[in-house]
Amino acid sequence: MERAVNLYVLPDADALGLAAAEQFVDLARASILSRGRFTVALSGGSTPRRLYQRLAGSPLRDRVDWRRVEVFWGDERGVPQDHPDSNYRMAKEALLDRVPIPPERIHRLRAESADRASAAREYQAEIARAFEVDEAGQPPSFDLVLLGMGDDGHTASLFPGGEALREARRWAVSVEAPRPPASRITLTAPILDRAREIRLLVAGADKAATLRAVLQGPHDPTRMPVQLLQPEDGRMIWLVDEAATSELEPAAAGRAGGAAR
Ligand code: 6PG
Repeated sequence: MERAVNLYVLPDADALGLAAAEQFVDLARASILSRGRFTVALSGGSTPRRLYQRLAGSPLRDRVDWRRVEVFWGDERGVPQDHPDSNYRMAKEALLDRVPIPPERIHRLRAESADRASAAREYQAEIARAFEVDEAGQPPSFDLVLLGMGDDGHTASLFPGGEALREARRWAVSVEAPRPPASRITLTAPILDRAREIRLLVAGADKAATLRAVLQGPHDPTRMPVQLLQPEDGRMIWLVDEAATSELEPAAAGRAGGAAR
């Protein structure tokens, strides 16, 4: 089956961070205008850090009504919140400490908990409360989900071959990752696919072979978990830098901005 892929190619990781930050601002403004708030699931990884730094600086910082922004995480590593590997700590230092988001609107994933299964269940309940929906019903729609992609094709903490890939009901689950830190909690495809907008940020030549396998190889989400993402009604856009596209077939690479396969 042919599946449309929205692929935007930026010259380098810095330009990618800026483009993603500008899209974040536009989506935040539109969501706040139409629904009174902006719900976003943040990602860990080195690429999003650049985006957060851009958002925290002038002029973008002043274009968002941060009091109406509600922050979640797509995944978290099983480390204390002040650990260098903590996705929360990274977002806090790069962005959250620098903008006036009310603390009660920052929903941290407690992956350091000794009982991660309970922490995952509690996160689902917290999401349901924040969106005022029933946990037994359909998962709610984040206005924006930011994700990265690992060189093994993982996204959030959905790793190749993992049980979490088959999750059809729960919104958040505890996982053992094949790379450290191994203990993690991740959101699952059922809630990620309900997002209004997904941005996948991929930078660097070390991702080039994986990007080719994901976009131009066979559909095999067990091997390439990022292929699991198939938004129901939302829009998914890949924001990638030139280095990451270096192994794409020329036809697809040349269709940046609306590539299809
Ligand atoms: C995590 C991340 C993970 C990340 C990718 C890409 O907590 O490990 O959420 O899914 O986004 O591994 O990371 P980079 O942007 O650093 O390559």
